[in-house]
Amino acid sequence: MKGIVLSGGSGTRLYPMTRAANKQLLPVYNKPMVYYPLTTMMLAGCRDILLIVNPGDVEAYRRLFGDGNQWGINVSYEPQLKPGGIAEAFIIGRKFIGNSRVGLILGDNLFYGDSLPEVAGRGAEGKGAWVYAYWVADPTAYGVVEFDAAQRPVSIVEKPKQPRSNWAVTGLYFYDSDVCDVATQVPRSARGELEISDINAHYLKEGRLTVERLGRGYAWLDTGTPSSLLRAAQFVETVEERQGLQIGSPEEIAWRKGYIDDGAFEKLIQPIRESEYGKYLQRLLARG
Ligand code: DAU
Repeated sequence: MKGIVLSGGSGTRLYPMTRAANKQLLPVYNKPMVYYPLTTMMLAGCRDILLIVNPGDVEAYRRLFGDGNQWGINVSYEPQLKPGGIAEAFIIGRKFIGNSRVGLILGDNLFYGDSLPEVAGRGAEGKGAWVYAYWVADPTAYGVVEFDAAQRPVSIVEKPKQPRSNWAVTGLYFYDSDVCDVATQVPRSARGELEISDINAHYLKEGRLTVERLGRGYAWLDTGTPSSLLRAAQFVETVEERQGLQIGSPEEIAWRKGYIDDGAFEKLIQPIRESEYGKYLQRLLARG
């Protein structure tokens, strides 16, 4: 399984925070935003990850993740010349995807919940297209899925003015390798973008789309506006402080999954041992 983290875009709604810094590099409490989706991909079982970023940000992301070897994963990079839509990921990533099944996660999406690895794992191992829906109070800013009486998906519409349900499509998607061809077939939308909702609608029409609903025990958080970014940070702080466990730590996940051994874990900790983050990792290692 291959995984793509889409981490470009202009972040205009967060201006001026995003004037000099890419949105997904901004902090959500104590980590860069992109750590959360990257670790969701790791939890889904994906070790071969492509980061699609703005051309001017490749070096910054490289400083953050390198080639991924330190976490027992493989990270590569491709630039997106300008934000032409989420589905461009399958055109930019075509070579990377090859004949594999592929996961896509948006660099600004934060997921949290007990059985997230199993939930994401089902999409990773499933057939056709597999997406997740989450009940939100105001679905107008999202792709919205409508279900029939038998709970089968019947339509997917991007940012509808009059939504037909409260089920928003989240920014975590899995597809077979056909998605690369589908992305070349769908036309650009009125806003000039290759829409991920059009890809999903295409699979739906072919009867090859699964929509799994995330129950209310999960958190799916938005980081698109200053106040939603603050709320996401407060959510992470609240849970981490209460439990003494961190959300979205790639070092911890790599170690727990056995991608790196104790020695390699300790090597990662050494240079950052004075930080709270380093002390947290040290405590994990000491506990064993
Ligand atoms: O968050 C889930 C929603 O994400 C879905 O419900 C929608 O169907 C989907 O279209 C998308 O809606 P947004 O309006 O939130 O997409 P946005 O343009 O904000 O982009 C989401 C992320 O993807 C953001 O972190 C920037 C990145 N991005 C976006 C585009 C369009 C890119 O890296 N390149 C792009 O070309």
